[in-house]
Amino acid sequence: MMLLVAVGACYIDTILTTPHYPGEDDKLRASRISRRRGGNCPNSLEVLQQLMAESAPASQARLNLVAILPARSSVASQQIRSAFEPHVSLRHCIYRAEFEEPASSYIIKSQSSGSRTIVNYNELPEMTLEEFIGIVDQLNTKSAWFHFEGRIPDVTLECIRYLRRLSSDIRISVEIEKPGREGLQELAKDADVVFYSKAWAQNEGYKSAEDCVQKQSELAHNASLHCCTWGQGGAVAHDITTGNIVHSPAQIPSGFQVVDTIGAGDTFIAGMLYGLLCNGDTWSLPQKLALANRLAATKVAQEGFAGLGRVLKECSHALESIPGQ
Ligand code: FRU
Repeated sequence: MMLLVAVGACYIDTILTTPHYPGEDDKLRASRISRRRGGNCPNSLEVLQQLMAESAPASQARLNLVAILPARSSVASQQIRSAFEPHVSLRHCIYRAEFEEPASSYIIKSQSSGSRTIVNYNELPEMTLEEFIGIVDQLNTKSAWFHFEGRIPDVTLECIRYLRRLSSDIRISVEIEKPGREGLQELAKDADVVFYSKAWAQNEGYKSAEDCVQKQSELAHNASLHCCTWGQGGAVAHDITTGNIVHSPAQIPSGFQVVDTIGAGDTFIAGMLYGLLCNGDTWSLPQKLALANRLAATKVAQEGFAGLGRVLKECSHALESIPGQ
């Protein structure tokens, strides 16, 4: 069974739903407050775990999270573990014994625009290369899929290079999300699969998702697959091995309303990773992209991530109508 190791930050999200985005120095009453576990990789793993539950054992993967958490005994770490285990293993998380508080995000979700403005705070010391090497030793495998959230790019780059030296059977994907963050382009250059956000692409001057994947495939030419999401514009994937560029429009269900965009990109990545890891040989790229898009749209139309595994059944006919491998 394939092993997926997702490396990224875990947050506790406090989300205020407001009628509109507040002006500076305003007072504004929120209509709802909710608190949930967040972070790009944990969000993707939450969706992946649901997809695995709907899949035959032959097309499942073992899921692992590598994240920095506060002390093992802290309330946050215990909550995070009980929400994930046993389906997602947190055995290789790094616990910072001197800290009680998790990384925290405070998010304003505006109902009028659908935007989600995120302010975060994280005092947990970041993972070092030595810690990562220790984890890879413990995992004791030379064949796995590592997915990295593109943060702390200098350390992440070293981690990727370490994996490359270790084995040629390791596949690596990275998420390039934060606009303007230095060092992300270098990560793209060393990965096999790259996921670009619209915000990052626009900040680089790309005019569309197609523009992004086309130009990025020249710049980051080691990667075999480049994917870029474009909100309501859907997503595009460029398969370098075949030269195919596939566009999948946003899969908007009837009566669609934007309810919660927090983690839509993470959900898209979960869908693509599911296609690549679990149906790599049977599904075509358009099928993988269609599932990822449908998952992301379904997520945007609901609060949180609960029950997204249902999308697999819901769109099985639609997937069958798209030519397979
Ligand atoms: C959504 C998210 C939130 C988290 C923030 C971290 O993509 O992962 O859950 O608070 O981004 O940047």
